[in-house]
Amino acid sequence: MKKFYIESYGCQMNFADSEVVASIVSKEGYTSTQSLNDADLILLNTCSIREKAEQTIRKRLKGFNKLKRKNKNLKVGVLGCMAERLKSQFLDEEKIVDLVVGPDAYKDIPNLIKEINDGRNAVNVILSKEETYGDINPIRLSSNGVTAFVSITRGCDNMCTFCVVPFTRGRERSRDPKSILDEIKKLVDKNYKEITLLGQNVDSYLWYGGGLKKDFKKISALRQKTSINFSKLLKLVAESFPLLRIRFSTSNPQDMSSDVIKTMSNYYNICNHIHLPVQSGSNKILKAMNRQHTREEYLELINQIKKVMPDCSISQDIISGFPNETQNDHELTLDLMEKVKYDFGYMFKYSERPGTLASKKFDDNVSELNKKNRLQEIVDLQQKHSYYRTKSFMGKIVEVLIEKESKKSNSQWSGRNQQNTVVVFEKEDYKIGDFVNVLITDCTSATLIGNPINYSKKLKNGIIYSNN
Ligand code: SAH
Ligand code: F3S
Repeated sequence: MKKFYIESYGCQMNFADSEVVASIVSKEGYTSTQSLNDADLILLNTCSIREKAEQTIRKRLKGFNKLKRKNKNLKVGVLGCMAERLKSQFLDEEKIVDLVVGPDAYKDIPNLIKEINDGRNAVNVILSKEETYGDINPIRLSSNGVTAFVSITRGCDNMCTFCVVPFTRGRERSRDPKSILDEIKKLVDKNYKEITLLGQNVDSYLWYGGGLKKDFKKISALRQKTSINFSKLLKLVAESFPLLRIRFSTSNPQDMSSDVIKTMSNYYNICNHIHLPVQSGSNKILKAMNRQHTREEYLELINQIKKVMPDCSISQDIISGFPNETQNDHELTLDLMEKVKYDFGYMFKYSERPGTLASKKFDDNVSELNKKNRLQEIVDLQQKHSYYRTKSFMGKIVEVLIEKESKKSNSQWSGRNQQNTVVVFEKEDYKIGDFVNVLITDCTSATLIGNPINYSKKLKNGIIYSNN
């Protein structure tokens, strides 16, 4: 039997997509292998978000030359955003590549495999208005058997000026709620305990029988009224699977509704964490980025979230050194961070991407040194705030879902609380997949350390004070 090896880079969506691809390739008679040396087909699911991500892939591809010399029948395929961005040009630039498949064309992989096995190169980078892979049952790759991703939307219509995603993943479309619930049911039957609903912009989820988000306005009033938005989908999932923990990512500030916030607070099994990228704290930069909100509106949204769910954690994405960013703009970002005190975040230097509006309209004119120094200040401040947040859990009891052994000690379990912070504690008699109440006794800026306690009362909102 032939073997395939698949490696994923970039966002969670790519990791979820690789599980769809694994399912498709398996039906072609390939079995999955974790070893490159055994593989007849190597697939890289690639990321284009920053230049560095692309360089990493190119380096990785170079490393396969030796394998190909050893095994003349070995085929190499690239999937994902880089495949979509570079198309057949990839075959010219990287001679080692036999197969190029964009994010909406994975169902064509069986035909493409036949092509490459006949000795021809194969490319399919057609983007779709409909494809959601809703009918494919993903094969869970290197899974812990406890947590899984379930994608609910594909593509993005937001056109942030710095971002390549709308070009590589196409227009936004939502997946049939029935197929979402079916996939979750299969996971629950296999004893999975937590799912993350995935999309580039989950809050913009909208099911009205299929089709693009942007065509919603054209349908009848009745169909509009019976459509399912993200808040309704969350409710549906939370009620259908009351014992399942539910997370979602990513939320775009402009699309987050008060209904979603209310739904989160109404259901204990929807985790109190929102990933809410801000990118910059300066209105001038937000406008140039085509983010559809101001700094004031963003802070108002945070206020609203904290009012309804005081213990909800918030995480960020921030970019340093967007074109024309001045020291003053940068300080506004630091000031916004100071106001929000994010629990954690993902921070990047601006990287100009070919084809984006920012690359056409603006000069990449912030010096590398300024980008780097500003990023460092943002990262340092985030670390301070993360520590402030983890310290606030000291003496409290949190509910942890055990996912794996702690990296630092094989006598400890590692899991996460509702707020998505890692918690480690002594194993005792607990096992992977258990929900455990843990009293927090120590912390770093990224990890909570504690002792499991026998506490039979159901925790309210994930946190109670130990002396209550
Ligand atoms: N909505 C998406 C965002 C994908 S990109 C999601 O599901 O998360 C993730 C983050 O990468 C963005 O929020 C942004 O902070 C960063 N990013 C995107 N394009 C970038 C670029 N050209 N340079 C630097 N960072 C970028
Ligand atoms: Fe990119 Fe903005 Fe969409 S960051 S993925 S265009 S929300």
